[in-house]
Amino acid sequence: SRTDAFEAERLLAWYDRHARVLPWRLAPADLRRGQQPDPYRVWLSEVMLQQTTVEAVKKYFLAFTAKWPTVTAMAAASEDDILRAWAGLGYYSRARNLKKCADVVAKDLGGRFPQTEDGLRALPGVGAYTAAAIAAIAFNRPAVVIDGNIERVTTRVAAIDTPLPQAKSQIRAALTPVVSADRPGDFAQAMMDLGATICTPRRPACILCPLNETCRALFLGEPERFPVKKTK
Ligand code: ADE
Repeated sequence: SRTDAFEAERLLAWYDRHARVLPWRLAPADLRRGQQPDPYRVWLSEVMLQQTTVEAVKKYFLAFTAKWPTVTAMAAASEDDILRAWAGLGYYSRARNLKKCADVVAKDLGGRFPQTEDGLRALPGVGAYTAAAIAAIAFNRPAVVIDGNIERVTTRVAAIDTPLPQAKSQIRAALTPVVSADRPGDFAQAMMDLGATICTPRRPACILCPLNETCRALFLGEPERFPVKKTK
């Protein structure tokens, strides 16, 4: 409604026009035609993006999917092969878990990823964030996805001034009712894109923001004050 600080409809309309084109994404038009993303590609991209920037991940994602187009193909590779392909991405436990997870999915789960957050969380290398992201993006589940960009956008829109990390439960509570029931994956990725391109840490481009009519931090005239970080 007009009184909600969060207008998921506006955010999604913005995303339809301005979504970043990224190798692990389907075009919004393909999604509307009912094409579902490949869970293997969503999982691989989200593991790579856990501690690495979008720009750095792009070429690795393309190289990995060219070499191993399916989870079964990845399971057939050796850990050494995967570590070699991972060289340069850092946090090498991710690569070892990638192999372990591919083995579990290919050999124990018939090549199919679990569709629920709980099922996904049980996989090697898949934490709360990654499980929610895969559930939303690959399986259209209304999971609440929270990363750094989403924390910043949410604390601004709702003017949550509790310091991080204490604010996490309020952030979750603010997002839970607004996650799009129809398009949870697009909602999460729209929030990520908004945080990366418009609702930036410094000098956010509020004039271009699809949420600028309802954003409480902008109303207060100080979007950059959010999120509040705990002073040590
Ligand atoms: N960072 C983590 N996951 C992402 C995604 N799906 N799109 C863009 N940035 C991301």
